[in-house]
Amino acid sequence: MARILSGIKPTGNLTLGNYIGALKHFKDFQDSGEVYIFIADLHALTLPIDPEFLRNNIRDLAAFYLASGLDPKKATIFTQSSVPEHAELNAILQNYLYMGELSRMTQFKEKSKNMKDSAIGLGLFAYPVLMAADIVLYDADIVPVGEDQIQHVEITRDVVNRINKRYGKDTLVLPNYKINKVGARIMSLSDPTVKMSKSDPKGDIFLRDDMKTVRKKIMSAVTDLGSEVKYDKENKPGISNLLTIYASIKEVSIEEAEAHFVGYRYGDFKREVADAVVAELELFQQRYQQIIDSKEYLPVLREGAARAKLIASKTLKRVQNAVGLLDIDND
Ligand code: AMP
Ligand code: TRP
Repeated sequence: MARILSGIKPTGNLTLGNYIGALKHFKDFQDSGEVYIFIADLHALTLPIDPEFLRNNIRDLAAFYLASGLDPKKATIFTQSSVPEHAELNAILQNYLYMGELSRMTQFKEKSKNMKDSAIGLGLFAYPVLMAADIVLYDADIVPVGEDQIQHVEITRDVVNRINKRYGKDTLVLPNYKINKVGARIMSLSDPTVKMSKSDPKGDIFLRDDMKTVRKKIMSAVTDLGSEVKYDKENKPGISNLLTIYASIKEVSIEEAEAHFVGYRYGDFKREVADAVVAELELFQQRYQQIIDSKEYLPVLREGAARAKLIASKTLKRVQNAVGLLDIDND
């Protein structure tokens, strides 16, 4: 059975981009594979974050996972920090990834570009090492992510190949990323040439926005010249982004979405996109609120950590043995 693993950082303000590119699809794997979904709380520390804000984001993300339809009986849901093997494997893997390749990572370059060297934490630089540990710890075959994370899965593959070459081909499992055909990169509503990200309140839809705000943001999304609702990323980036959002939410292809909107004016088109997003988010938020109020995420996270540890500890042992650390219980 395929092993599927993914995670999201609890840095707050999850967007519709996170939802469409990642969160919404995690549940699709739980009937056919063994699914591990975690909260990348250690990764959230790679940029300064307030402790109380972080703790709340972790609760939120746990509730988002459950509200998205992940079933804790089928999927193992846990926090990264509750399974210390992540940090332990990180300490080993960091010796097999190099300064040059880490400094070429797009995410690192983007996040550090306006920072002085004296303010860039080592954790931000070494981010992909911990991410590689997250993935290989569960012998994951498939890693569903948005487009911006492909590079990090690629570097994980590099380190797996490097280690297997040196210590034997069965040391680590080689993972593959999985990108959605539609919606792997949702763009900002105020500037459809840049990615929707957590730091742009105007162009983003946040998963906790109220429905009036969601509707308003979609109705005032930047559109393009012309009047036809057509998918054309180059000449109609705004319309193409809205079509992508609609197709992802309705779970139809871009072609089907285009066919549906033939003859529509931009205004009516936007109204229907807003209706679709509101219908989905409204239900999602109701479930989220119920989970937060009942605190049902807590036993889920506890049980998830225990289940995750069973797998993680075995992999860690295997790697420790392979690299030459002495097993003091079985020498
Ligand atoms: P992060 O918020 O960086 O932890 O990202 C969590 C997941 O959401 C990752 O799989 C990202 O690739 C995905 N993601 C983030 N922003 C977008 C976006 N604008 N469009 C599609 N996927 C996204
Ligand atoms: N780096 C991912 C992001 O920013 C989050 C993440 C951490 C992750 N570890 C992972 C995703 C392992 C997939 C697998 O979105």
